[in-house]
Amino acid sequence: MRLTSTGCKCPKCQDSGWEIVEENGSSYARECSCGIRKREVLGRKLKFANIPDAFKEVRLENFRRDVYRREDSKVIIEKDCKAIDWWLDDIASMKEQGMGLYLYSSTKGSGKTRMAASIANELIYNKGMSVKFATSVQILNEIKASWKQEEGMTEHQLLDDLSRAEILVIDDFGIERIKDWIEEKLYHIINSRYINRTITIFTSNLPIDGLEYDVRITNRIKERSFPLVFPNESVRDYIAEANFSRLKEVMAS
Ligand SMILES: Nc1ncnc2c1ncn2[C@@H]1O[C@H](COP(=O)(O)OP(=O)(O)OP(=O)(O)O)[C@@H](O)[C@H]1O
Ligand SMILES: [Mg+2]
Ligand SMILES: [Zn+2]
Repeated sequence: MRLTSTGCKCPKCQDSGWEIVEENGSSYARECSCGIRKREVLGRKLKFANIPDAFKEVRLENFRRDVYRREDSKVIIEKDCKAIDWWLDDIASMKEQGMGLYLYSSTKGSGKTRMAASIANELIYNKGMSVKFATSVQILNEIKASWKQEEGMTEHQLLDDLSRAEILVIDDFGIERIKDWIEEKLYHIINSRYINRTITIFTSNLPIDGLEYDVRITNRIKERSFPLVFPNESVRDYIAEANFSRLKEVMAS
């Protein structure tokens, strides 16, 4: 896009996002059709979401079902995708009820984080929602760090942010070594979200009943999430195998 003489890209709004419209002798401001405001809002949402770089580009459309080799896995992932489509189609009523998702499988590398990030991107890009993505270890480390630092967010602000986020994705839930303070903080976040009926999406290697947290935490999660078991097959292993084959080809040539 060419810049105007004032150095702005948009001649109508000078990149402010608002254009002044004169009508019947009076003037008012309306959102400029160049879309700068929408791009700014999207940019802020993406920054806030903090989706890991490796999963920034993943989308539901490029979540592959053919990577699973076992028949039982193909059946499981087919059902999961159907359930996720249904949940997304009905997101307005899920939001009213505060119904989230709990993606789990004991096998590591089966696509849970990739799916959670794909859902997060769908919610941000196509449903205009605000999402916060974090691993539970990240959340707990940030809380711990807030105790020491003089600057930055206080523990209170952090907990408040996590409690209020429109959609919160907690990746790798249930791997922390349980300590009283950890349960207390997680309870604070999960109970606030329960009371406010806000949606939380979890990924975990454990089923809800297998989590070692206090039942006050687990039964709130149980009431407000649809559990989706993921295949017990590691796509990560297949990626590693493919990489190794490429290496062997190079070495043999
Ligand atoms: N269905 C899929 N289509 C394409 N790539 C996939 C799919 N599932 C997983 N992958 C890729 O496999 C790797 C492992 O996936 P992911 O990290 O989502 O697994 P996970 O179930 O979250 O594992 P963990 O239990 O260790 O957290 C990633 O590189 C991911 O992009
Ligand atoms: Mg994961
Ligand atoms: Zn403009």
